[in-house]
Amino acid sequence: MSYLSLKNIKKIYGKNDYEVRALDGIDLEVNKGEMIAIMGASGCGKSTLLNILGCIDVPTSGEYFIDKKLVDFNKLSSLNEIRNKEISFIFQNFALIKELSVINNIILPLKFRKGNKKDILEKAEFFIKELGIEGLKNKNVRNLSGGQQQRVAIARALCQETDIILADEPTGALDEENSIKIMSILKDLNIKYGKTIIVVTHDNLVSSYCDRKLKMKDGRWS
Ligand SMILES: Nc1ncnc2c1ncn2[C@@H]1O[C@H](COP(=O)(O)OP(=O)(O)OP(=O)(O)O)[C@@H](O)[C@H]1O
Ligand SMILES: [Mg+2]
Repeated sequence: MSYLSLKNIKKIYGKNDYEVRALDGIDLEVNKGEMIAIMGASGCGKSTLLNILGCIDVPTSGEYFIDKKLVDFNKLSSLNEIRNKEISFIFQNFALIKELSVINNIILPLKFRKGNKKDILEKAEFFIKELGIEGLKNKNVRNLSGGQQQRVAIARALCQETDIILADEPTGALDEENSIKIMSILKDLNIKYGKTIIVVTHDNLVSSYCDRKLKMKDGRWS
């Protein structure tokens, strides 16, 4: 079995006439250190799939194994542990805390982990610089543009140094220059540190950095 393994995953919303089969029997095998793009039209189920991979959402049926261990979707504590230790998630809508500054958003998840404050801040500073948002460090997130917020969300995810990075349209709000910058950083993490990366995207530039491109249509692979 591969590092990440989905078996016949279904996610069904609503009932009868109102039923939406967001995922309709998805199988997926991902090797450790792979970098994969998931593509497809709006509404085909990409975010739903990524959310299940990230243990943020629960499937209606099917099985998910991480490193050969079955994920217990009924157990919130075990989902939280996986999310804390193994997976960094870059959300389609950024999911930043608007009341906090850039730096405080970035270090917030790190407060739930081991490590001393100085190391945490050093790591945060490193990615803030890499992503070109040094000047915004103490600004309230509420006052940033979409592309600036997206880079804060990416810095926050990268600081967590997990083995798995999941990114939902990580360049959706960015210009080409910043998209290239971010994909270069992700590719670097993939090659140098063997991170397993799955990116949902509409953008061929983004998918060109990936080893494998998968296309979805109506909740299935197409
Ligand atoms: N909470 C929900 N209740 C009902 N239907 C939902 C819910 N969340 C998603 N859906 C439906 O499931 C389908 C898949 O949605 P999803 O967000 O995964 O699409 P997507 O491929 O990420 O689209 P986009 O490219 O626009 O982000 C859509 O038809 C959507 O309307
Ligand atoms: Mg989506």
